[in-house]
Amino acid sequence: MNGIISLAKAYEGYFKIGAAVSYMGADHYEKVLKENFNSITPENEMKYEMVEPEEGKFTFETPDKIFSLARRMGIKVRAHAPVWHNQTGAWMYRDGDKAAAPELIYERIDAHSKAICQRYNNDVYAWDVVNEAVRDLYIDDGGTDEVYRNSEYFMLCGKEFIAKAFQAMDKYSPNAQLFYNDYDECVPEKRKKIVRLIQDIQEKGCRIDGFGMQQHYFRKPDFDELKRSIEEYAGLGIHLHITELDITLRSAYEDLAGKECEVDDDLISAVTNPTNELIDHVGEIYLKLFEIYRSYRDVIDCVTTWGVADDYSWLDFFRPDKKMPRTKQYPMLFNRYHAAKPCVAKLIEAVK
Ligand code: GLA
Repeated sequence: MNGIISLAKAYEGYFKIGAAVSYMGADHYEKVLKENFNSITPENEMKYEMVEPEEGKFTFETPDKIFSLARRMGIKVRAHAPVWHNQTGAWMYRDGDKAAAPELIYERIDAHSKAICQRYNNDVYAWDVVNEAVRDLYIDDGGTDEVYRNSEYFMLCGKEFIAKAFQAMDKYSPNAQLFYNDYDECVPEKRKKIVRLIQDIQEKGCRIDGFGMQQHYFRKPDFDELKRSIEEYAGLGIHLHITELDITLRSAYEDLAGKECEVDDDLISAVTNPTNELIDHVGEIYLKLFEIYRSYRDVIDCVTTWGVADDYSWLDFFRPDKKMPRTKQYPMLFNRYHAAKPCVAKLIEAVK
């Protein structure tokens, strides 16, 4: 390894270091993944529409590529194949020309869970079972429930589909950990709803082992709310994974400014032609976040970045705020040539 110390090796006494990877990137990232990571997550390959594009027709070619990468790395997968309102075929919600009855949806979730578990159980240590079932704070989905997103699942089944999904995965994957996963998880108003959802699963007697804190940073990080959130979720008696960590330039810009900023010419120009100082500040935020994660190592078992290196990130294409331009982002720990950024050496230094 050319004298480079692996990030994952350095953090062995703390938590796993994971990355989301696409089947197209499996070979491309193999070297940096083998050197620095000991967990991987399929970015899209295990979502319902990829694995079961039509009811009962399973296609495993693309997830298989990720699993063979994991085997080459000698590690297990943190699987992200959730019951989710996105990336799910329309067939899930229909029964011929009628809306599907809840029982039919539960049978479909059960059949899907059985198929993925039978194929991958030996290589998975944790599953995201349900993703983002709590209502968004900012987008009006037309629903009125205080806690739950007005998804098709919810409109057809009420909140019951969540427990059914956990029961199915518990039945078919008794040895892997089962997670609920969500975003905006450190915003107090959303946190309250997530806590209610998790408690509801627990009260129904379903096994839920953990909560996945996505940790996408679009705006100024609030480190105090992060600590409060970790404590509150861990207080539910579950474990935590950081599941989709990435840091936008806007987040770094606001952190440097010490406040949230409106979209104006200064912000747009700063993120469109970022200075080295701004790009490096992404690394400074990683250092602060990892310091906090480390201090909760008794409850945090894995920290996964949503991507591997800066040559590709979904953030290059996604604009959470439509007033912002679509610009190249530098959200990862490794640069576009897959070399460790300066913050990686500092992260390793911090645990020596
Ligand atoms: C969400 C999902 C992920 C992925 C990202 C964007 O956070 O949980 O599966 O789709 O959005 O890449």
